[in-house]
Amino acid sequence: MDIADEIKLRCVLDKTKPSFIVHVAALSNVEKCEIERDLAYKNNVLPVKILTEWAKENDATMLFISSDYVYDGGRGKFTEDDQALPVQYYGLTKLQGEDIVSKLKKHIILRPTVIYGWDLDGMNFFMQLFRKQKDKQEMKVPVDQINNPTFVNDLCELIVKILKTPDKYGIFVSTGPESMNRYEFGLQLCDSMGWDKELLKPVQTLEFGQLAKRPLNNSTSSEKVCRMFNFDFNDLKTNLEIIKNQIENNL
Ligand SMILES: NC(=O)c1ccc[n+]([C@@H]2O[C@H](COP(=O)([O-])OP(=O)(O)OC[C@H]3O[C@@H](n4cnc5c(N)ncnc54)[C@H](OP(=O)(O)O)[C@@H]3O)[C@@H](O)[C@H]2O)c1
Repeated sequence: MDIADEIKLRCVLDKTKPSFIVHVAALSNVEKCEIERDLAYKNNVLPVKILTEWAKENDATMLFISSDYVYDGGRGKFTEDDQALPVQYYGLTKLQGEDIVSKLKKHIILRPTVIYGWDLDGMNFFMQLFRKQKDKQEMKVPVDQINNPTFVNDLCELIVKILKTPDKYGIFVSTGPESMNRYEFGLQLCDSMGWDKELLKPVQTLEFGQLAKRPLNNSTSSEKVCRMFNFDFNDLKTNLEIIKNQIENNL
């Protein structure tokens, strides 16, 4: 279903009557959002409006997956207390979504970043590097983009924990515990997975010639969400062992 189609979306909501809505879908291609702004608004903002209105009318709780791209990548170590100041259209649509959802009393907004995991059809950084390594191809990786890579399983476990915790609402940075630049992340993946580091080529972000500006120093702290929900994100090493196990067991 196209969730920007209000009639269809409302019809499904009226039939299923969720007490808790977890809104994950988005146009997440940052370059495409920059170029096709109407499409980005249609996919990233409009459905949030419809879902939030329905949640308000039906006293449902809304959990919205936002992004660390609401930050400008200036000084790093971002928390929920820092001003959101997106530097590209994708981040702006996520912030517009946050503004809509946060008007609802029962709202939870999570800001993850660089979500990685084992997903054969997926385009996350781990999978992109996996495919390049399989084909013995080089991969250019930025050395100047710092984030806290977030394991998808951790994020799912956090969401389940939030679902089970009544009456705690707000905005939460929800990222992994370690800050690193993308090249360092790639090196750690190579180390753990036994991949060829020589195929990783460190480059500056500007060399990609991308249209949408990237936040560079976007390291974050998830101290608040961990404290509020008594949650721990695993470290990268542990998560890579979990992925190895998933691959070995065809999970
Ligand atoms: N990936 C990251 O590192 C990252 C970091 C921070 C935040 N996030 C956020 O996390 C969420 C998931 O990201 P992701 O990387 O998993 O994205 P993804 O792989 O691009 O998946 C997004 C999904 O949303 C669906 N979708 C988009 N517009 C839709 C619409 N109008 N109706 C129905 N389905 C629609 C897409 O369906 P189709 O495939 O059919 O288009 C796709 O299945 C997004 O909200 C994203 O902004 C991601």
